[in-house]
Amino acid sequence: MDILVTGGAGYIGSHTTIELVNEGHNVVIVDNLSNSNKLVIDRIEEITGKSVTSYFIDLLNKDELDKVFKNNHIDAVIHFAGFKAVGESVALPLKYYSNNLVSTLNLCEVMEENDVYNLIFSSSATVYGKPESFPIKETFSTKAYNPYGRSKLIIEEILMDLSHSNEKWNITLLRYFNPVGAHASGEIGEDPNGTPNNLMPYITQVAVGKLQELNVFGDDYDTVDGTGVRDYIHVVDLAKGHLKALENIEANDRLEIVNLGTGEGYSVKQVIEAFQEASGQHINYKIVDRRPGDVATSYADPTKAYEKLGWKAEKDINDMCRDSWNWQQKNPNGYEEK
Ligand code: NAD
Ligand code: UFG
Repeated sequence: MDILVTGGAGYIGSHTTIELVNEGHNVVIVDNLSNSNKLVIDRIEEITGKSVTSYFIDLLNKDELDKVFKNNHIDAVIHFAGFKAVGESVALPLKYYSNNLVSTLNLCEVMEENDVYNLIFSSSATVYGKPESFPIKETFSTKAYNPYGRSKLIIEEILMDLSHSNEKWNITLLRYFNPVGAHASGEIGEDPNGTPNNLMPYITQVAVGKLQELNVFGDDYDTVDGTGVRDYIHVVDLAKGHLKALENIEANDRLEIVNLGTGEGYSVKQVIEAFQEASGQHINYKIVDRRPGDVATSYADPTKAYEKLGWKAEKDINDMCRDSWNWQQKNPNGYEEK
């Protein structure tokens, strides 16, 4: 199939592009490089041995986006592009609403105008807010606690309306849990700007000596050891979930919502231990206050992904830690030119 990948130079988009190309799909990337680097495209091409058409344009520019559709045959779109930093979204809500919402509206309008109706959207487990029971099913109620999460929820609702408006639309909303890890080559991976907000890149930067110690946000939660529990999923498994969603998009209902997680929760301390084991590196950490807005626990019920898409995660926490470490070791400064 001919697939447009928005945000294809980003962390999840680049890994998904590799899996798509390896499966014989033809990929066109659109990315404005606001949170990524052109080098990613070279690395994708090195890893796959195939060339990938890339447009370094902004989805906010509808005319430019339209040209991409006019100049390429597109069967389906996987829409990763967007801003994703929760803390920044609290400080700069308009930045998040205008980028995430307007780019999605532009994309859907251009898709309709060009008769393309297959869309996979990157949603997030953040839309479940503070669930009362676990594992989390797709049928659970949703609530946003910050502008980033609200932008995801609003987009989900817009896409639901769209799916009702015209039976041609086939839309899958994938709610990701916590993506970590990197491609086995160590050539592509997560490259956060500045000090990482998320656990795994923080740990790898402590391991490589860029940061001194990890702050563990609270050890008084009602969890196995008091630290927060999450459903970490290897980014390559996550990428493969998109291929399965694509294969099934026309057979499934007009709009499907699917969790992508492993179904298993690991605490912060368990992740530290697993990382130490996988890397042979010692991780200095100290316990600090809880981070405002964090939930104690979050893990998926991935049953629907198996039933509807025939997908389940295959990689375990050791694979995630090993591959995160491999990427960090090979690229201590991320994609910064060496
Ligand atoms: P990322 O920042 O690495 O990738 C997003 C890409 O989109 C970047 O390359 C950025 O340059 C591009 N982009 C942003 N705005 C754009 C615009 N207006 N026009 C063109 N390109 C634009 O993020 P990621 O981790 O790969 O996440 C991909 C998607 O998955 C995002 O929508 C994110 O919200 C969602 N998601 C991520 C996580 C996570 O923990 N990484 C969890 C749940 C959901
Ligand atoms: N944590 C620490 N120290 C750190 C960073 C994180 O102890 O320096 C803890 C957190 O308190 C939490 C766990 O590690 O218990 C995971 O935190 P992350 O920041 O890695 O991930 P979150 O679950 O908070 O959020 C991530 C993304 C959200 C997304 C959500 C669900 O940042 O955007 O996963 O997909 F919505």
